[in-house]
Amino acid sequence: MKRLSITPAETVQFSKIVRGLNFFGSMNMAMLEKILDGIQLFECDRGEKVCVQGEVGDTFFVVQKGSLTVSVRKGRLSLPKQIATLGPGDCFGEMALLHQAPRNATVACHSASRLFVLPASHFRAVLAQNPEFAKEINDLANSRQFELDHKLDR
Ligand code: CMP
Repeated sequence: MKRLSITPAETVQFSKIVRGLNFFGSMNMAMLEKILDGIQLFECDRGEKVCVQGEVGDTFFVVQKGSLTVSVRKGRLSLPKQIATLGPGDCFGEMALLHQAPRNATVACHSASRLFVLPASHFRAVLAQNPEFAKEINDLANSRQFELDHKLDR
């Protein structure tokens, strides 16, 4: 992944996307500035893996552009199964951060993509400050866990 410089317009774009997840809630201005300062923008090529199932994860991602596939392998001998696709406005990488567990799935770029990236420390600071966001993101992770548990059985 190649890091890009982030423009003020892109920072606003990030804010608009995550507002749907109640990300900022009633966060004070100082905290908001700190979080927005920590956002990075990365570009990745088609085929590149952004998260690898089983690896340690320490970042949260929000898709700015492009499309990505989510796939899972049940056992060492089974083939990966694609269970979802992600596009602009979608987020991922929350499960490893919420549960302090390895990545649950492999997320790879289906086309060249651009991703906003938030380090775990900032993600956890937002969670701690903002119960509305904690609820939204836990609900999302739980529904994804349900899909992981059920789609793989078929
Ligand atoms: P994490 O486990 O940190 O890394 C892989 C990510 O894939 C995971 O967080 C979720 O963000 C994402 N993911 C897992 N299952 C699904 C699903 N069913 N639909 C969409 N995204 C998913």
